[in-house]
Amino acid sequence: MKKTLIVNYTPRENSNTKKMLDYFITKNKDKTDFSILDLTKNTPDLLLNDNLNLVVARNFGGVELNEEEQKLLDKNDQLTNQLLDTDYVVVATPVYNYSLPATVKAWFDAVIQAGRTFAATEKGLVGLSVNTKALVLTTSGSDLGSEPMEKLNFATPLASACFDLMGISTESITVFGTQQYADKLESLIETSKKEIDLLSERWY
Ligand SMILES: Cc1cc2nc3c(=O)[nH]c(=O)nc-3n(C[C@H](O)[C@H](O)[C@H](O)COP(=O)(O)O)c2cc1C
Repeated sequence: MKKTLIVNYTPRENSNTKKMLDYFITKNKDKTDFSILDLTKNTPDLLLNDNLNLVVARNFGGVELNEEEQKLLDKNDQLTNQLLDTDYVVVATPVYNYSLPATVKAWFDAVIQAGRTFAATEKGLVGLSVNTKALVLTTSGSDLGSEPMEKLNFATPLASACFDLMGISTESITVFGTQQYADKLESLIETSKKEIDLLSERWY
């Protein structure tokens, strides 16, 4: 059975994004092996002085780390291993400040690793996870899917670009306007569930 990694960042009570994710999981529970990464409980390490310089030395400089140094990278390396070990990855996240929440970006910063998920070659950057497929489930309060706000949606393009760097093709299912169209929210979520049905049939 193919494996699916769920990367879940839906901390708000009664999260609309989580409704989409729960539907996805219930719909496909017999068709794939799920692993769930809850980013609110297992939060990636931010790249700060110590670990960032070790990542650069190891992943770009070929430096071998000692045990103590490696420990500082273990958390993010485990997240990378988890991604390398899956066939499908589903990221569930709301839009915050027109983009991905920092916690979700921290996950991308953790798993986009030279020599593991992408390679820096003479021809440029080459993704190494080409057999993996991604889905981004997201919601935003305003309608970032149409003019005049469309150009302010940095969330799904950023997620796609990050996955693309790793060679992972991405699709998005979105409910844009959870607050703007509060009176139609139920039907917008129902529409997203139909999109999830279609994608699930293609994937599994
Ligand atoms: C910290 C924060 C920042 C937000 N920033 C935006 C934003 O830039 N644009 C937008 O349309 N909605 C924004 N929203 C609204 C959420 O994207 C929207 O309510 C979304 O549906 C929340 O998803 P959830 O129900 O899964 O928590 C923001 C909400 C929060 C809590």
